[in-house]
Amino acid sequence: MTQKILEVLSGQVIKPYPVWMMRQAGRHLPEYMKIRETAKDFIDFCFSPDKASEVTLQPVNRYDMDAAILFADILLVPIALGRQVSFIKGKGPVLDPLTVNDISRLDNDLTVLEPVYETVKQVRKRLDPEKTLIGFCGGPWTVATYMIEGQGTPKKEIAKRFAYENVEAMDSLLERIADASAHYLISQAQAGADVLKIFESWAENLSPALFERLVIKPTQRIISKVREAGITQPIIGFPRGGGLNAVRYAYAVKTEGLALGTDVPLSDMRALVGDSLALQGNLDPLALRIGGDTLRKAVQNVLDEIRGPHIFNLGHGVTPDVKIDNVYAVIKHIRTGEADYV
Ligand code: CP3
Repeated sequence: MTQKILEVLSGQVIKPYPVWMMRQAGRHLPEYMKIRETAKDFIDFCFSPDKASEVTLQPVNRYDMDAAILFADILLVPIALGRQVSFIKGKGPVLDPLTVNDISRLDNDLTVLEPVYETVKQVRKRLDPEKTLIGFCGGPWTVATYMIEGQGTPKKEIAKRFAYENVEAMDSLLERIADASAHYLISQAQAGADVLKIFESWAENLSPALFERLVIKPTQRIISKVREAGITQPIIGFPRGGGLNAVRYAYAVKTEGLALGTDVPLSDMRALVGDSLALQGNLDPLALRIGGDTLRKAVQNVLDEIRGPHIFNLGHGVTPDVKIDNVYAVIKHIRTGEADYV
């Protein structure tokens, strides 16, 4: 029994390209909303293995995606580090902003994450063996931006300033996050995840020196810890918005896959990283929302840009307003070449 995504991550070109979508489990699906309403709040939902495993499987059951992605969140790791995290409807995540003095006092209660591994076990048991289960964590920098700023902001200026002005404290924070994240990934792999992905969603707009310090170094730390623990599952890195820094990431971090945001020309990236690295991406999520001829052209543009081993995905996540029919149409286009968008 072979998984197409594992074949691509071993450097093979598989056609039609295997496909899954970031945030494929979420508010655009009525079956998700039904289960979401039964959970006390989003964090409780993530820590309820029966519910989380059910919604992890929903997009595979509905769309026949080639992968399921574990239903959880990158901001569960700050909870294990003792920070207050809540998800406010219409606003997103809210955390208690971290100060320099808090860093040496961070907790390290990794047992709170255990329900997530139970979700992984339940999903792997129920998922078709030819489908891949993807586990994940946040990139240390992305997680740190939420811990420092207390919420998502467009420019991450507070977190960047913190990194410039408090070098030792910042480096120690990134190490703490990296160590907890490595443990989180190792445990997911041991519970049955087939692939691990590191979501560095806020890799944009960093100078090469900051990118090296805030993204590459802590990610290398995660990967060496995961490998030292004997975990052999392939890893996909996602330095979203990193531009040419993503090329340095590809060479320095040595993941088996490199996921790309919407801004990267896939054929140029292929020329820069060589033939064997699996790439993943990078349809514009906005085109998926718009549909019709806009979507047809956007999917075709991505298909035309692909060179070498590739996993089809979006450049970022599915948004709640995406129409189910558009998702079906994209998958059909990739698999059959038929482009009947409405
Ligand atoms: O299909 C999947 O991708 C499932 C699992 C998943 C979620 N979050 C579920 C989720 C994954 C891989 C994530 C990662 C994540 N979480 C990232 C990195 C990827 C990215 O999207 O950039 C980030 C930055 C977060 C932090 C986070 N979690 C934010 C900013 C939000 C609010 C955004 C929103 O849409 O409201 C969340 C909540 C969240 N995580 C939802 C889901 C399905 C929506 C929660 C709901 O049902 O209300």
